[in-house]
Amino acid sequence: MTVEVKRDGAVAVVTVARPEVLNALNTATNQELLGVVREITRDAALRAVVLTGAGAKAFVAGADIAEFRGMTAEDARQASWLGGRVVAAIEGAPQPWIAAVNGFALGGGCELALACDIRFAADNARFGQPEVGLGITPGFGGTQRLPREVGNGWASYLCLSGRLIDAAEAARIGLVQAVFPAERLMDEALKLAGELAAKPPLAVRYIKSQIHHALNVDIAAGHEIERDLFALTFASQDRLEGMDAFLEKRQPQGFEGR
Ligand code: COA
Repeated sequence: MTVEVKRDGAVAVVTVARPEVLNALNTATNQELLGVVREITRDAALRAVVLTGAGAKAFVAGADIAEFRGMTAEDARQASWLGGRVVAAIEGAPQPWIAAVNGFALGGGCELALACDIRFAADNARFGQPEVGLGITPGFGGTQRLPREVGNGWASYLCLSGRLIDAAEAARIGLVQAVFPAERLMDEALKLAGELAAKPPLAVRYIKSQIHHALNVDIAAGHEIERDLFALTFASQDRLEGMDAFLEKRQPQGFEGR
């Protein structure tokens, strides 16, 4: 197993675990990861996920270059298709995914972090799309999601130069939402995951979907989707509990996803 899943109540921690190659993603690991994302997606008891890498040095140092070396163009298309399905599955999951970037997030690692809803980084994290130096392009969505996340200029800078940026720079350009000392990263990611897990799951799922659509459809269609999902939340028990709790000046008594 190169992908570990630990559950603590409503929160799952998913760890890419090939530390001997800085958690590089080969086909087997990507397949495992896709299976894990799908399992989590189906599990209504899980309400938030933290994604990280094994060891102190890397989140994920990219696709496995040793495996890439032997691939034909058609193999590469398949690899890109599989990687694309992993990131799409994370984006499409009902739970919020938080990337806890504990070191190098390069190539496919940066792309995996980009698929998550929120990114926290350790102060020693480094980000980049170094594929160009290998004579290839990003293939797991980097050229599509980076411009959406940080704009064309930064996306071009990262993908064309292959340069790495540190956690502080990543925060400055909006690639990560917060930076913590390495030893506090997991605690902070778990704290946020716990908070998100306690929110009404339907509202969380719809917000994730609405924000995803914001970058992928025109604004009129986006408003239409927002309107529908907003209306749908009014059919839930959880919104009655949330509103009653506010009006009665008490804490909500737990949300059930109904
Ligand atoms: N694919 C396959 N193996 C990888 C890898 C990857 N993406 N990234 C690291 N490794 C392996 C190294 O080959 C090395 O294996 P070895 O111990 O058998 O020699 C081991 O992981 C440790 O990496 P190493 O390069 O020795 O560590 P470092 O601290 O000197 O450098 C990096 C760290 C991340 C800067 C460097 O490993 C690197 O540039 N990795 C590739 C990044 C990349 O191009 N990703 C995009 C791939 S498409």
